[in-house]
Amino acid sequence: TDGVLVDRYGRIARDLRVSLTDKCNLRCTYCMPAEGLPWLAGPELLTDDEVVRLIRVAVQRLGVTEVRFTGGEPLIRPGLTGIVAAVAALDPRPTISLTTNGIGLDRLAPALRAAGLDRVNVSLDTLDPDRFVRLTRRPRLDAVLAGLAGAAAAGLSPVKVNSVLMRGINDDEAPALVRFAVAHGYELRFIEQMPLDAQHGWNRTDMVTADEILASLRRAFDLRADPAERGSAPAETWLVDGGPARVGVIGSVTRPFCGDCDRTRLTADGQVRACLFATEESDLRGALRTGVDDDGLAERWRSAMWGKRAGHGIDDPTFLQPTRPMSAIGG
Ligand code: GTP
Ligand code: 5AD
Ligand code: SF4
Repeated sequence: TDGVLVDRYGRIARDLRVSLTDKCNLRCTYCMPAEGLPWLAGPELLTDDEVVRLIRVAVQRLGVTEVRFTGGEPLIRPGLTGIVAAVAALDPRPTISLTTNGIGLDRLAPALRAAGLDRVNVSLDTLDPDRFVRLTRRPRLDAVLAGLAGAAAAGLSPVKVNSVLMRGINDDEAPALVRFAVAHGYELRFIEQMPLDAQHGWNRTDMVTADEILASLRRAFDLRADPAERGSAPAETWLVDGGPARVGVIGSVTRPFCGDCDRTRLTADGQVRACLFATEESDLRGALRTGVDDDGLAERWRSAMWGKRAGHGIDDPTFLQPTRPMSAIGG
C-alpha cells in the first residue's frame, strides 16, 4: 500500500461502502417520496469496470480491508454478481458484504455466495403485512422474508436484520422482531432514525431513541452487555435472555460513534464522501475519465479523507442535512 486513508483526527478508514445505484424497488416513507426521486442518468453512473477499478485502488493502495455494497437497492444493479466476483479476486481479498432490502435475494443468494459475497444485512421494519405496505408503499413483505431465508440457506453468515423504529408506527414491535430474529438465527439491530430522508421531514421528537428501544426490550427480555469487543462497529450489542442470541442498537444520533468511525464512501456516480453527513464530495469519476492514473486516484482519495469532519454535528444549531438523501449516499 502507498499509505492509508487517515484523517486529521487520526482515524483510519478501512471500511469502504460502495453505493451501486440510487434506485430502489421500495419507497420507505423515511427515505423516499412515493413518486421516487430524479435518478442518476446512465452516463453519470460508474460502469462495472470503473467501480472495480476504484475498489482495487482502495484495497491495494489505501489499506481498505472491507467492502460493503449498498444502494438505493444494490440487488437491482445488473452487474452485481460480476462486481462481487472481481472484488473477491483482488489480492489481498477484502471482506465483502451487502446491505439490501432483501427483495430477490432468495433467487440471487446462491450466485452471490459463489461469487464471493461473505454476508448480508437486510432491512425489515415490521412483520405485519399491512404495516409493511404503509411503511414501504409496496406489498412485498413475503419477498423480504423469502430473501432472508434464502440468504441463510446459501450460507451467508451472519445474516443481520436492520429495523428502524418509528413512533406510533412500529415502535410496539421491538419484542416481536427480536423473537422473529432469534427464532431464525438472524442478528437484529434497531437503528435510530437519522436526518437523511429526501423530504427533510426528520424531527428529533419523532425519533425513537436508543434509551427508549432498550427500555422496551427490557420489559420483554433479560439483556446483558455483550462481552464481545465492539471495535468500530456502529451497533452496541446485548445478549438476549442469557444468549447466545444477541440484539444490537445503532444509536447514531444519541450515542454517536463518530470518534471510532472507520468508513469511507463511494457513491454510484463516483464521488468520495468522507462521512455520511459530509457537505463536500470528491469527484473520482471525473478524474478517472480524464485519464488520471491509480496513483493520482489514490492521492485524491487520501486528500478527500483528510478533511473528514469530527462528527455528524446533528446536535449543532447550524446543522444542515446533506443535500443528497440516504438512497444516493448509500447508508
Ligand atoms: P456491519 O459491519 O454488519 O455492522 O454493518 P453496518 O451496521 O455498519 O452497516 P449497515 O449497512 O447495515 O447499516 C446499519 C445502519 O448503520 C444504517 O442506518 C446506516 O446508515 C448506519 N451507518 C452505517 N455507517 C454509518 C456511519 O458511518 N455513521 C453513522 N452515523 N451511521 C452509519
Ligand atoms: N435513518 C437511519 N437508518 C436509515 N435507513 C434508511 N434511512 C434511514 C434513516 N433516515 C436504514 C435502512 C437500511 C440501512 C442501510 O439504513 O433501513 O437498513
Ligand atoms: Fe429503498 Fe432502502 Fe430507501 Fe427503503 S430505505 S426506499 S429499501 S433505499
